[in-house]
Amino acid sequence: MSIWRIHGGKSLYGDIKIQGAKNAVLPIMAATIITGCETELINCPQLSDVEAAMSILRHLGCIAQRDGDTVYINSHGMCRTDIPHELMREMRSSVIFLGAILARTHEAKMSYPGGCELGPRPIDLHLEALRSLGADIYDSGGCLHCSDRGLHGTRINLSFPSVGATENAMLAACAAEGETVITNAAREPEILDLQEFLRKLGVSIHGAGTPTITIDGFKPRSVVGHRVMTDRIASATALCCTASSKGCVTLKGVVPAHFETVTDALEYMGCDIERGRNSLKITAEKPLRAPKPIVTRPYPDFPTDAQPLLMAACLKAEGTTVFTENIFENRYRHVVELKRLGADISVVGRVAMVTGVQKLVGAQVSSADLRGGAALVTAALGAQGETVVYDAGHISRGYEGLSEMLISLGADVSVTSED
Ligand code: EPZ
Repeated sequence: MSIWRIHGGKSLYGDIKIQGAKNAVLPIMAATIITGCETELINCPQLSDVEAAMSILRHLGCIAQRDGDTVYINSHGMCRTDIPHELMREMRSSVIFLGAILARTHEAKMSYPGGCELGPRPIDLHLEALRSLGADIYDSGGCLHCSDRGLHGTRINLSFPSVGATENAMLAACAAEGETVITNAAREPEILDLQEFLRKLGVSIHGAGTPTITIDGFKPRSVVGHRVMTDRIASATALCCTASSKGCVTLKGVVPAHFETVTDALEYMGCDIERGRNSLKITAEKPLRAPKPIVTRPYPDFPTDAQPLLMAACLKAEGTTVFTENIFENRYRHVVELKRLGADISVVGRVAMVTGVQKLVGAQVSSADLRGGAALVTAALGAQGETVVYDAGHISRGYEGLSEMLISLGADVSVTSED
């Protein structure tokens, strides 16, 4: 258990470099097993989810080593096709390895990924896509058994632009005979980064970032180098921390277009935003007003992962902010904790109404999930007195050095760990 002690009221000032993207590097790490190649991943964030992915790679027989922000993977020695429950449990999104294992070995076995803090997290779209490529998949005792006698190109129409299902389909299609077209594909920037990596691997693939992705050939290369894109949600988190605490912060090495729905909302609230080619400066000195209604939808609309973070930044904004969470069924678990700080929030179904209050007062709170935990830290920065956030490892799954980053900007934060 990590215990964060935050004394709010300190404005944040300075420049920060944003980490590599968790949700880009995880599917790319899975992709490294498609051929027995050697991969060097640069700008790889130091996160427990990345460590979990490295453990899966080693279990499969691959070499996975870290040297600073570079991770070296050699999948030549892959000799297993199963992911045991204890490794699946460490990272719910381990299911993104399914398509890659199938593409390499034509068989895969993994425990059925259970639900998690955000809701049931089904994988029916993943399985439908893999079956249409020719995989036989059955569930026996909570375990998925997959095999194929050769994958064949096909047309995959996703009923929902699921990020994970799009990635699994892309990875399995690399080994399919003939052309595969994925329609209604997810358009997130992380999908583009995966396409970039697959092209370096020798895959003929195009369309990522649009609703239609085509994979039509593969001339495997044996050595690949790739720089992971910057994390757009970590960028949004830094911006919301600044809005909550006041101050002036410049984000370096970012792509402003990747999180413009968040910056648009913060600008409407009264923050000054200066966009550079690969930097962005936020100045939050004035009292804030509530943004227009926030509705989470697949990219390029407002990202569900930023909903808890912007909510934390809205708690003292004048007026009422209406949030509608369309992606996950259970993504308001941070609300009850924010109310302990004095926030005025009411939730009915998928809608959360946040009415700005004059002040927030520090309290003891607990994080229930990754972005909800970051939202508690964000709100604590703008609260009077000390807030203690009890976090059972959620925050470190997705943020590299969040406390160090905040301290470098002037926040009064300390983190200790207790068993
Ligand atoms: C990815 O999760 C991200 N995780 C999530 O980030 C992110 O919130 C989500 O995409 C949406 O952008 C990673 O990339 C590792 P989905 P994923 O499949 O792939 C339903 C974070 O905080 N669905 O797009 O699991 C599902 O239940 C995490 O960094 C099905 O019904 O998201 C959900 O309601 C949280 N059947 C919706 O689609 C399926 O087969 C979106 O899920 C798959 C998904």
